[in-house]
Amino acid sequence: MCGIVGYVGDKDALPILIRGLKGLEYRGYDSSGVAFIQNDNLKVIKKKGRIKILEEMLTADGYLSEGDDKPAQSDIHMGIGHTRWATHGAPSDENSHPHLSENGRICVVHNGIIENYIELRQLLTEKGYTFISETDTEVVAHLIEYHFYFDCNQDIFASVREALLEIEGSYALGVLCTDFPDLMIAARKDSPLVVGIGDHENFVASDIPAILSYTREILIVEDNEIIVLTKKDVKLYSVHGVLIQRDPIHIDWDSEAAEKGGYEHFMMKEMSEEPKAVRSTVAPRLRNGKIVLDQFPLSAEQIRAARNIHIVACGTAYHAGCVGKYVIEKLCRIPVIVDVASEFRYRDPLVDNQTIVIIISQSGETLDTLAAMREAKSRGASIISIVNVVGSSISREADYVMYTAAGPEIAVASTKAYNTQLACMYLLAFEMSHLIGKISDEEYRTYQDKLLEIPEMIEKVLESRSEIQRFASEHFNADSIFFIGRGLDYALSMEASLKLKEISYIHSEAYPGGELKHGTIALIEKGTLVVCPLTQDSLMDKMISNIQEVRARGAVVLGITTEKQTRASEVCDQVFYIPDVDPLLAPIVAVTPCQLFAYYMSVYKGCDVDKPRNLAKSVTVE
Ligand code: F6R
Repeated sequence: MCGIVGYVGDKDALPILIRGLKGLEYRGYDSSGVAFIQNDNLKVIKKKGRIKILEEMLTADGYLSEGDDKPAQSDIHMGIGHTRWATHGAPSDENSHPHLSENGRICVVHNGIIENYIELRQLLTEKGYTFISETDTEVVAHLIEYHFYFDCNQDIFASVREALLEIEGSYALGVLCTDFPDLMIAARKDSPLVVGIGDHENFVASDIPAILSYTREILIVEDNEIIVLTKKDVKLYSVHGVLIQRDPIHIDWDSEAAEKGGYEHFMMKEMSEEPKAVRSTVAPRLRNGKIVLDQFPLSAEQIRAARNIHIVACGTAYHAGCVGKYVIEKLCRIPVIVDVASEFRYRDPLVDNQTIVIIISQSGETLDTLAAMREAKSRGASIISIVNVVGSSISREADYVMYTAAGPEIAVASTKAYNTQLACMYLLAFEMSHLIGKISDEEYRTYQDKLLEIPEMIEKVLESRSEIQRFASEHFNADSIFFIGRGLDYALSMEASLKLKEISYIHSEAYPGGELKHGTIALIEKGTLVVCPLTQDSLMDKMISNIQEVRARGAVVLGITTEKQTRASEVCDQVFYIPDVDPLLAPIVAVTPCQLFAYYMSVYKGCDVDKPRNLAKSVTVE
């Protein structure tokens, strides 16, 4: 949802900005731009399209030298950059960031949404300001300029503060002003922002990997804070101007983890990392036959007293929650409600201090999820979060955070994060049900052993990926693909269908196996592809009937089942076998062939696998 980056220091700023933007491109890639001060003027270079186009423009203008990251000229030591995911106004050169103020002496990059921008735009228009873009961001540039001359005595820090006090909505901002050629200002509310602290250089960025090759000392910026950066100094203030002391955190993971490492696409690299990611999520939490969740805040009494458990998330993380519902209800016998975060918040949910809320988010920054979590917290619920990005907003605000050890996930389509979210759901369900005495010590230990076997099973699936590739090569021209399943296979089908549509642009729907005949089966015709996960032994007979129903209407069926399920081959046109996994744990293994299927369909169709159209990795607008 847009990425921003800023640099001030001794080095040449433009290669650093471009490299940072490339790292942030997953957040949005409709257009990009940079701004810097040169000869007392703000120079803005921006363009619709990918960052490659911006880079070519900078090279053509002599700001970067051809073929490498080295600068052609070295008098630019401070600048801000932006990569956009359009919200207000179509992707275009005019709507690209940075945006200049009326007199061109202040400029702004922004991630988020200014909710009262129409009122502000009207107010500024009445004061004589003109707008050249359709964006909500341009009002910020003008508003800062207005305060700069009207009531802030040409003090840029005070002007930014005054503007922020009038703005409603979410923002991560970077601001430059020609009157302060050595100083950069940034601010945050409900959109991620970090500061990188270096030696005679400082950075701002929407995420840590964007600047990790320059510094590992990271200051996490909280909501309603403003940062003033020079090359020697970083000062953090509240929006009311009170100086805040906060120590940076040291990041010990590697920037290489966020690079492709020889794979053609991040998505393939990330699927290949699933065994390791699941192992790293599970193994450190299993000690001497026990699941160790350090400082887990819920006692057996609190769990028993819970009226219900809400799982709240978006997209793929929501689908991980759907699996969690089956598992927790089965093992803990507590009702579980799974909610899409954007719906939860506005339906006056039945949540109080006897509710446990589980929040799932890879990024930890998804605004809908964050807002839902705050809503649940304000109603007194205990918040357990499952998050991948360390130090993200959700991880900081939840009562308890269980980190998934997936490592950076760059491809827009989530893969390894889902497997690790499921791993956490299982750990949580096993631990809670054992705590309240719903499973025996022996079952508790057996489940742990089974969880430890999962990485090897995923490895086996990955080794057989050529079978999925061949299947995709025969079907990538499909117009529409259905996924049907029962129980946990239905929960899995929803994720499989989402993965396929988001990266291959093929229409797809996921249906409970028994529900299709209540309407949707009308869409099945000769040659329609239907994919059926068949991992739930107890539901096999029913699923076989449902497969017969679609085949009788001409469907071609791909079954995804365990090695022991020999009956699948009798009813499916083709079968992909996964290792024999306990049905309760099956989705964490069976999702991988579904992800591979989506991947190869996208590759055969010639789509941009890692950056599918209209999407962005981190959705920080509502
Ligand atoms: C799909 C995908 C999205 C995210 C969703 C939530 O592949 O990645 O559906 O799962 O936007 O994101 P997080 O988990 O960061 O809250």
